[in-house]
Amino acid sequence: MVRRNTPQHYDALARSFHWLAAVLVATLVALGLYMTRLDFSEWKVRIYSWHETIGIALFVLTATQLYWRFRNPPPPLPPSAWIEQIVARISHACLFGLLVVLPVFGFLGSNAYGFPVRMFGLFEIPSPIVASEAVGETLIGIHALLSWILTGMASLHVAAALYHHFIRRDSILRRMIPSLRIRRDD
Ligand code: HEM
Ligand code: HEM
Repeated sequence: MVRRNTPQHYDALARSFHWLAAVLVATLVALGLYMTRLDFSEWKVRIYSWHETIGIALFVLTATQLYWRFRNPPPPLPPSAWIEQIVARISHACLFGLLVVLPVFGFLGSNAYGFPVRMFGLFEIPSPIVASEAVGETLIGIHALLSWILTGMASLHVAAALYHHFIRRDSILRRMIPSLRIRRDD
């Protein structure tokens, strides 16, 4: 039986979704930066394929995470100024939105360029779009732009989590890492 969120903590499944997504995003950004700078070779094609497979896997993970979150709402935010509550909600919604939209642009862009996506090199996802280099260029341009917006937002998100933990000394980070200790209890 899976334990649910409590008023103090995200449950183990919600935490696993979050940390797995964080690792996958970091990996995808690193692969994205690396692969686009390589000269054409078999290795480059292989890294593109890994980027695409991991990106689609993250999309499926995010869809599952959102389903779980809908069934099991997150713990309420501790009392704080209304503006902080709104900023926290909007930034989480934007992060979720980007995790859904970014892979879609990557997937459509790759197919528009005429490169169908093969998951783990095993099976191909059917292309929903007609091949066109101009369309591919636009879609991948949007994909690159969104990936930088996600990187910026995730950096602010990490800075906010560290600020809460080390400066405000509240329970925000411990809601995601219950084993974390802090000098003062709230
Ligand atoms: C790129 C990586 C990351 C992404 C995309 C991301 C995304 C998210 C999202 C969407 C939520 C909302 C979860 C929900 O409401 O169900 C969240 C919550 C949270 N994240 Fe991240 N996160 C990332 C990395 C990190 C890192 C590295 C830290 C810690 C340093 C962190 C700390 C937290 C904390 C403490 C919460 C809970 C906030 C609360 O209780 O309201 N995140 N994250
Ligand atoms: C949240 C998931 C994803 C993230 C964070 C991400 C991130 C990135 C980054 C940082 C780049 C380099 C951008 C640049 O050159 O400035 C990139 C490029 C690219 N991504 Fe993704 N990506 C994701 C998902 C996907 C998916 C699912 C696909 C396809 C199925 C995909 C296909 C591509 C392609 C084809 C490029 C190369 C563009 C080029 O050659 O100029 N990405 N991605």
